[in-house]
Amino acid sequence: MSADKQSTWSYTEALPFEDEVLLRARERSHELGVSAVSTGVGAALTVLAASSKAQTVVEVGTGAGVSGVCLLRGLGTGSVLTTIDSDVDHLRAARQAYSEAGIPGNRTRTISGRAAQVLPRLTDNAYDLVFIDADKPSFLLYTEQAVRLLKPGGLMIINGALDNGRVADPAARDQLTVTMRQVGRFIRDNDSLVSALLPTGDGLQLAVKTAARRPAP
Ligand SMILES: C[S@@+](CC[C@H](N)C(=O)[O-])C[C@H]1O[C@@H](n2cnc3c(N)ncnc32)[C@H](O)[C@@H]1O
Repeated sequence: MSADKQSTWSYTEALPFEDEVLLRARERSHELGVSAVSTGVGAALTVLAASSKAQTVVEVGTGAGVSGVCLLRGLGTGSVLTTIDSDVDHLRAARQAYSEAGIPGNRTRTISGRAAQVLPRLTDNAYDLVFIDADKPSFLLYTEQAVRLLKPGGLMIINGALDNGRVADPAARDQLTVTMRQVGRFIRDNDSLVSALLPTGDGLQLAVKTAARRPAP
């Protein structure tokens, strides 16, 4: 990254204000060894959730609740976040963050389990937003599941889509980087999706499931 691009990125990541609730959730993330979304991604999640007017949301990778609080703060009061994590200590910390953020208990459904087992049990075409932030080697599987879960008009958000800059580097061929490129290709090749890749955080892949198939360019 050029010095200009690096400082622009640092500037945008440093802009969002985070209150005590988010700072405490970040502290617990750190203590538990969880890598929470960046401040820029957190702010983007709140904006995307607010603009989507989503009622039903699935999150893969609860962590200690930083991303969940950001999503819930953008969502309307009638919305429900279903969030999946394989680690019960992480889920406990996330519930604490939701409670400190004043989120009523009936707006979150925390599911303990491996996403590959849990996602297939969720209903087709039933969700307005799916956020993927766990277990990168399985991102392609989670992306396929997200397409199935989303309603037409629903939004998919994938965190870490640039894999620490390696996705854009043609010389990088490690398995994780290849997987992230496959995810991008799967999304771009899918006629039912319109997409954009933002350089926010470590890359935020966005895709909306359209009601009709996209016409060929
Ligand atoms: C990057 S952290 C999520 C951070 C969270 N989104 C945030 O910003 O606060 C990834 C989380 O995924 C969980 N995880 C890892 N593998 C998983 C799997 N196969 N299924 C479900 N959760 C998994 C980890 O326990 C961890 O809490």
